[in-house]
Amino acid sequence: MKNLSSISLLILASAVQKAACWGALGHYTVGYIASNFVTNATQAKFQAILGDTSADYLASVAAYADSYRSTAAGTFTAPFHYIDALDNPPESCGVDFERDCTAAGCVVSAISNYTQRVQNRRLKAADVALAAKMIVHFLGDIHQPLHDENLELGGNGIKVKFDGVSTNLHSVWDTSIPQKFAGTASFVNAKTWATNLTETIKYGAYSKASASWLDGLKLSDPVASSMVWARDTNSYVCSAVLPDGRNATEAVDLGGEYYAEALPVVQLQIAKAGYRLAGWLNLITASNVGF
Ligand SMILES: *[C@@H]1O[C@H](CO)[C@@H](O)[C@H](O)[C@H]1NC(C)=O
Ligand SMILES: *[C@@H]1O[C@H](CO)[C@@H](O)[C@H](O)[C@H]1NC(C)=O
Ligand SMILES: *[C@@H]1O[C@H](CO)[C@@H](O)[C@H](O)[C@H]1NC(C)=O
Ligand SMILES: *[C@@H]1O[C@H](CO)[C@@H](O)[C@H](O)[C@H]1NC(C)=O
Repeated sequence: MKNLSSISLLILASAVQKAACWGALGHYTVGYIASNFVTNATQAKFQAILGDTSADYLASVAAYADSYRSTAAGTFTAPFHYIDALDNPPESCGVDFERDCTAAGCVVSAISNYTQRVQNRRLKAADVALAAKMIVHFLGDIHQPLHDENLELGGNGIKVKFDGVSTNLHSVWDTSIPQKFAGTASFVNAKTWATNLTETIKYGAYSKASASWLDGLKLSDPVASSMVWARDTNSYVCSAVLPDGRNATEAVDLGGEYYAEALPVVQLQIAKAGYRLAGWLNLITASNVGF
């Protein structure tokens, strides 16, 4: 019995682990979109920091923070993946840095910390590289609505079904919706999705709106900049994640109508994350977004 319960604890722990952030597919896609919008100078700088001159230099490190958090050395970074907004969806949404970022840190303070560290010339090369990897990951996470929400550990505690499979609401947004649309978490699938979203930003449905996606970016104030992204993203908890309350998500299979309504929001958020990541890396490189 003892063994059995430690096995089920292990299974539980790994399930929580997997449910921790946009799945790898989303993160790779954000990395590829960003690499389509960075300036040549930004590309050269970050390829040098990361020691990778391939076209995959951002996508390749985009999921690193998830493996780092599960090492003993990286345990302290677990709270850096989210900010637990103490709001009340679907009636009212909102994030407040003072109220919601705890002493252990949050995604907003983490983006601020690693933005300062990636520019700190006194740090060792390995620490600068770690900072770059963290920025690429956390700009992805902050764009997943349930990473900006406290309710039931960002939806991890809301048990739902997706295409007949039992899962939780957080995992549906991290992984089930992206993978139903774009396939398994491979670099090839991520690149295809990123190419489509890049075209949509440049010439398609996002071309008008994307002009405002960089509003509020200020390298001298990473907390204020990240809070713009967190507030924007958290608003979708009320409008798209739990529009009819949590019970409604538990009552139906989310692979149907819910998926159809959520997919455009997932696409939009992945596109914004990639575009804003490029803008942020351009600012770090040249003190202007460079578009
Ligand atoms: C950026 O690099 C590409 C490919 O190396 C080159 O074709 C392009 O002219 C460069 N752009 C600028 C603005 O230097
Ligand atoms: C900043 O990052 C470093 C390196 O990971 C870490 O040791 C430190 O605790 C972080 N500080 C904050 C305030 O998050
Ligand atoms: C992107 O994919 C969507 C399907 O989600 C399709 O309707 C659209 O035409 C594609 N856009 C581009 C620019 O390839
Ligand atoms: C949600 O479901 C729970 C348990 O079934 C019930 O107690 C609660 O009243 C429901 N809430 C709403 C808002 O319908």
